[in-house]
Amino acid sequence: MDLLCKQGGQILSSPEGLGFCFAKQGGQILCSCKGSRICFANKEDMMAQIYETDEEIERVLLIGVALDDNDEAESSLDELAELAKTAGAVTVGRLIQPREYFHPATYIGKGKLEEVRLMADELDATGIICDDELTPAQLRNLEDVLNLKIMDRTMVILDIFASRANTSEGKIQVEMAQLKYRMTRLSGLGTTLSRLGGGIGTRGPGEKKIETDRRLIRDRISRLNAQLKEIENHREIQRQKRSDSTIPVAAIVGYTNAGKSTLLNKLTNAGVLSEDKLFATLDPTTRVLKLPNTDKVLLTDTVGFIRKLPHNLIEAFKSTLEEAKYADIIIHVVDSVHPDMDRQIAAVYETLDELQVGDKPVITLFNKTDLAGNAETIKDMRAKCSMRVSAKTGEGIDEFLDELGKILRENRIHINRCFKYQDAGRIQLIREFGTLISEEYTQDGIEVEAYVPKEIYDKL
Ligand code: GTP
Repeated sequence: MDLLCKQGGQILSSPEGLGFCFAKQGGQILCSCKGSRICFANKEDMMAQIYETDEEIERVLLIGVALDDNDEAESSLDELAELAKTAGAVTVGRLIQPREYFHPATYIGKGKLEEVRLMADELDATGIICDDELTPAQLRNLEDVLNLKIMDRTMVILDIFASRANTSEGKIQVEMAQLKYRMTRLSGLGTTLSRLGGGIGTRGPGEKKIETDRRLIRDRISRLNAQLKEIENHREIQRQKRSDSTIPVAAIVGYTNAGKSTLLNKLTNAGVLSEDKLFATLDPTTRVLKLPNTDKVLLTDTVGFIRKLPHNLIEAFKSTLEEAKYADIIIHVVDSVHPDMDRQIAAVYETLDELQVGDKPVITLFNKTDLAGNAETIKDMRAKCSMRVSAKTGEGIDEFLDELGKILRENRIHINRCFKYQDAGRIQLIREFGTLISEEYTQDGIEVEAYVPKEIYDKL
């Protein structure tokens, strides 16, 4: 909008929350949307294109059920709103029903359903997103009663993943998860899947129009399975190579949007996409980082975790998430200014436990400390050490690197030895794979102090 004003445009309208505005300039009508400008020759042309844009923006109503803890349901719905925004939808209303259990037929109770119908009508909603994974029957019944596009949390997360996957591995993993999800719900996904192309919940295999045929889906799943197996083997080889190289591996894990990519970028200039959106990065990146004590470490970014992470997605992304399983140390990045920080930490540990990563040393970084003001000390009781940092400003990063170096060295063997001159070649091994602290040439030989990995120690 600023750009349009500076260029002498007269602002006509800027619809709240939709991220675009219209202006008149030199006989033309301009639309500015997310940094780019579109020119329309006249009003009719503009209306035709706006109509198309309108089609794409889903106006959704969020529905949740508070089983016991009301507070948890509220924050979970806040997160669902973020997910919906990331997927490109606009939230027009929200509603939580306290219940003892999910209604088996309609997720929420019959009376509440009528309330939702009226609310959707009044707010001109085009879709409903439920905060939990719906059964095929719930999906079908809700659609019958409300006659609107019905989506659930899983569908939205899958949709975001589908739009974010860049590598062929990521794409296969997402498509696989989507197909498995849809396979069991074909009968319930009537309208949802017939409205292809527009809005959320429809990217990926939906566009290939294969969802109408179970047999095709089954074939596709088995083909994708074979491709995934190949990728897993390849990943295993890469992992093997990394462990052969004796450079320790640190996996960066954390709740989505905690600042993992920002940290990796700060430390290694990796150029990983970092955005204030959920799941900005899907594909793992590995970079070498040189620590102040001259040790090297391989840093791997993993996919962000989230509450109620769809099971199919964990299955499909297992090989990516397992990066953490094979790491020597876990760096757990926490958004320390998020109101739901404790639950986010718990969700990360739950996923790590599911992946059987529980026994690794963990450094927890309470990130975004630049936004926290004079906050008191916080500690993660499950971590070996906790520290406050800002991946953005660099505050606390030096202390973190020192600590990382110290913990990694605990896994290495300290040697203080005199090598004969004819054995000088072995010192080269130390230089390559270990950390040489000092070497002194004396009458008896070369005095060496160093830290070496166990495998190298055996060779020395
Ligand atoms: P996913 O890809 O969703 O898993 O996110 P992520 O954990 O990789 O988070 P990312 O690095 O993309 O950061 C999310 C947002 O937080 C971005 O807008 C960052 O600029 C912001 N951010 C990250 N670290 C800091 C920090 O230390 N301070 C402040 N103020 N913002 C930060």
